[in-house]
Amino acid sequence: MKKISKNYTSIAPYYDMLMRRVRYRDWMRYIESIIEMHAPYAKNILDVACGTGNGLLNLRKKYKLYVAFDRSLDMLRVFKSKLKFYEIEPLIFVADVRKIPIKSQSIDAAFSIFDSLNNLLSPKDLKKAFGEVFRILKDGGVFIFDMNTTYVLREHWGTKTRIEEDEDLISIWRTRYKNRISELHITLFVKGSDGKYVRVDELHMERGYDIDEVLALLKETGFSNAYAYDHMTFTPPKEDSLRVNYVAVK
Ligand SMILES: C[S@@+](CC[C@H](N)C(=O)[O-])C[C@H]1O[C@@H](n2cnc3c(N)ncnc32)[C@H](O)[C@@H]1O
Repeated sequence: MKKISKNYTSIAPYYDMLMRRVRYRDWMRYIESIIEMHAPYAKNILDVACGTGNGLLNLRKKYKLYVAFDRSLDMLRVFKSKLKFYEIEPLIFVADVRKIPIKSQSIDAAFSIFDSLNNLLSPKDLKKAFGEVFRILKDGGVFIFDMNTTYVLREHWGTKTRIEEDEDLISIWRTRYKNRISELHITLFVKGSDGKYVRVDELHMERGYDIDEVLALLKETGFSNAYAYDHMTFTPPKEDSLRVNYVAVK
């Protein structure tokens, strides 16, 4: 049996290749428009669970300070290797969202994109994460994040196998859904410069949360206002929304 790596470790060098069809630029325009609405004065910005930096690096507005962290050192290594192509010099560090090493009341706007918070597998952990973001935000600061819905994890990811084939990369996505948790086993075959394929295996897990549950947790944490939108819109989520965007104002 092939060794299965911890999530976002051995996959890190291939993450951007796997995500090449994701429209990060449009996504960040949406995030920026929400920041404009709630914290137009924002001078510093934080990317929570930034991965290889595709959120932060697609921001248009010039902030005074860019901050980003992720639990995976391997993802951050890729992020750092891309910085030479950009003008910004973000502060990047390894950290878990449940214990953020940032001073209280110091951040104007924080965001977390691409269902990173679904990686927290219990409401207790999700609330811990909300508590930490709340602590580091200034009064009036905003936290914007998205989550996969229970619907998408159950009905779309479901329990199945999907294969994607490109010239230099074959990926196999095996999912199993049970009790709100989706287990995703990713296998990659990556063609090296010698023409030989390298195999990489990782196990990812995401938990689905009900929208009311997330909004209630945000309120319990102390956020003065919390909103949920169908992803990339300003309309309420529907029964069959795949991704929900949340906005929490301190
Ligand atoms: C799907 S990736 C998204 C990365 C990036 N935000 C993007 O849009 O490309 C999920 C990221 O969440 C990070 N992550 C998962 N659990 C975390 C935690 N508890 N604290 C910090 N980062 C975490 C993973 O390491 C991974 O980089």
